[in-house]
Amino acid sequence: MDSRMGDRLAGKTAIITGAANGMGRAHVLRLAREGAKVLATDVDKAGLNETVARATSLGGTAIGLEQDVTDGARWTEIVAEAEKQFGKLDILVNNAGILVLKPVEETTDEEWDRVQGINAKGVFLGIRAAVPAMQRAGGGSIVNISSIYGVIGAPSAAAYQASKGAVRLLTKASAVDLAKYGIRVNSVHPGVIETPMTTALLADPESTRAILSTTILERPGKPEEVSNVVLFLASDEASFVTGAEYLVDGGYTAQ
Ligand SMILES: NC(=O)c1ccc[n+]([C@@H]2O[C@H](COP(=O)([O-])OP(=O)(O)OC[C@H]3O[C@@H](n4cnc5c(N)ncnc54)[C@H](O)[C@@H]3O)[C@@H](O)[C@H]2O)c1
Repeated sequence: MDSRMGDRLAGKTAIITGAANGMGRAHVLRLAREGAKVLATDVDKAGLNETVARATSLGGTAIGLEQDVTDGARWTEIVAEAEKQFGKLDILVNNAGILVLKPVEETTDEEWDRVQGINAKGVFLGIRAAVPAMQRAGGGSIVNISSIYGVIGAPSAAAYQASKGAVRLLTKASAVDLAKYGIRVNSVHPGVIETPMTTALLADPESTRAILSTTILERPGKPEEVSNVVLFLASDEASFVTGAEYLVDGGYTAQ
């Protein structure tokens, strides 16, 4: 990984959820390398410690706090902590998520509620908690991680797709509501990316073949390739971008 420091987010502060693994960790490292002070959160304490250690060793500023994104009271504490530690809040990346692969007819009430709770309600709680702090900061940028499965249908992921579709439209609704405060809200839709979430999927030659047959670039993506888009949306370079959906899928949805 390129470890050079830059200044595209100099003076900015960010909260990134689901930061202990996969793409969340990559987003922390990428944003910290561009000068953002990052409050990284996750339910996985050990993974979070590793993320913070890596960000620090790259010369970045990051702290880690345990957070379950379904807990509204904890969201209030996390936002207050970001303001306390770093003085303000400019950026929120709602990245935490879980995948349940089940056809709709086999999905249980508990699986449905758990997936919506983390993937959709967790994003809503994060946006709502961040707004007062971003108002105090004079504006901000919220980046919500949806999926290609928030845009198109696929077999055996009904609850997941419903949650990611909710994130897509919650993003647009929030962009409309929050523009008056100078807060931009956008969604990012990764295709198949190599993370712990897809390890089992990509270990199976048949499912890998199926994925690659529909991915124009003929390979899974790397977390850092998604981080580059998150970085752009988080930065002032995206000052005229809000309510938008960014596919980062190697062309998966292009045909
Ligand atoms: N990997 C892919 O191919 C892919 C594709 C499209 C979208 N996504 C989305 O990208 C995001 C990151 O996924 P990833 O592939 O890095 O997965 P991952 O499993 O590697 O990381 C997800 C992180 O979320 C955390 N998390 C789970 N439940 C939580 C909760 N209740 N509160 C706080 N943190 C919680 C996990 O501990 C983990 O660290 C997710 O929203 C996922 O749905 C992934």
